[in-house]
Amino acid sequence: MQLLLKKLIEKNRDWVNHGKAANYIPELNKMDSKNLGVVLVDTGGKVYRAGDYQVKFTVQSMSKPIVLLLALLDNGEDTVFKKVGKEPTGDPFNSMVKLETLNPSKPLNPMINAGAIAVTSLIRGKSKEEKFFRILDLFRKISQNPKLDINMDVYLSEKKTGDRNRSIAYFLRDVGILEGDVEEILDLYFRQCSIEVTCEDVANMGMFLANQGFDRGSGKNIVPKYLTQIVKTFMVTCGMYDASGEYAINVGIPSKSGVSGGIMCAVPNKMGIGVIGPALDLKGNSIAGIKILEDLSKELKLSIF
Ligand code: DON
Repeated sequence: MQLLLKKLIEKNRDWVNHGKAANYIPELNKMDSKNLGVVLVDTGGKVYRAGDYQVKFTVQSMSKPIVLLLALLDNGEDTVFKKVGKEPTGDPFNSMVKLETLNPSKPLNPMINAGAIAVTSLIRGKSKEEKFFRILDLFRKISQNPKLDINMDVYLSEKKTGDRNRSIAYFLRDVGILEGDVEEILDLYFRQCSIEVTCEDVANMGMFLANQGFDRGSGKNIVPKYLTQIVKTFMVTCGMYDASGEYAINVGIPSKSGVSGGIMCAVPNKMGIGVIGPALDLKGNSIAGIKILEDLSKELKLSIF
């Protein structure tokens, strides 16, 4: 396995030259777009690492399935799916075009920014600090890393420049999807996106979903299986945004990308995989990361279809 991962990093390394690190969040543009790393964790907790696996990066949209789990635990399915739909959009992750044309107006799914902001608004807590701590605590548990924390520079960078998300959020309040203080909801969303991880943390998070909510740390199921099924289904249908169909054909693993260049994969009952490759394609997904996953899926027959 170790050798296979090393071989795939070498084979696909040139793809890092075919894309660029995100620049709409200025701090993300400081990432080294030449990096490429992968970590795989199997059900027995065995870890395999290759390439630039030690690089730190922020979770960005990889936070969306995890925060969705917490929102479902906090509120139940009915409340969550009153605010956000279950269908793919075919539009970019930060698009707002359908928000106004659909009647009633409701974000189509929890993986696009509009839907994720609506989901974040449902996290329970007495204060915004408590809400964030509850999110961070879940990330720490499922990544097996009690030291996870926020990257302040990335958080402040997005908070300062995130006007598209701001406009989405104010629109959502106007149509009654968001309730309460919009700036506070956005602040929580920017914080969740700025949690800093490595490929190994992400592989462990993927493993947690692959293991149907079983937490290796405590030896207990901390989330009901059917909620992890909902989340993994969204990862299949919307996890790679408007590239989800092609990705399902070529890779076939429930996955979620982030604009930092990370990809979190959950191969049901088999393994979690974390990949980093900050050079992105035009849809905001890691180019070299996807290439590695295509090869890995074929070599190990990981497609769930
Ligand atoms: O809200 C944003 O735009 C970012 N914090 C997250 C977007 C993202 O990761 C899209 N993924 N490919």
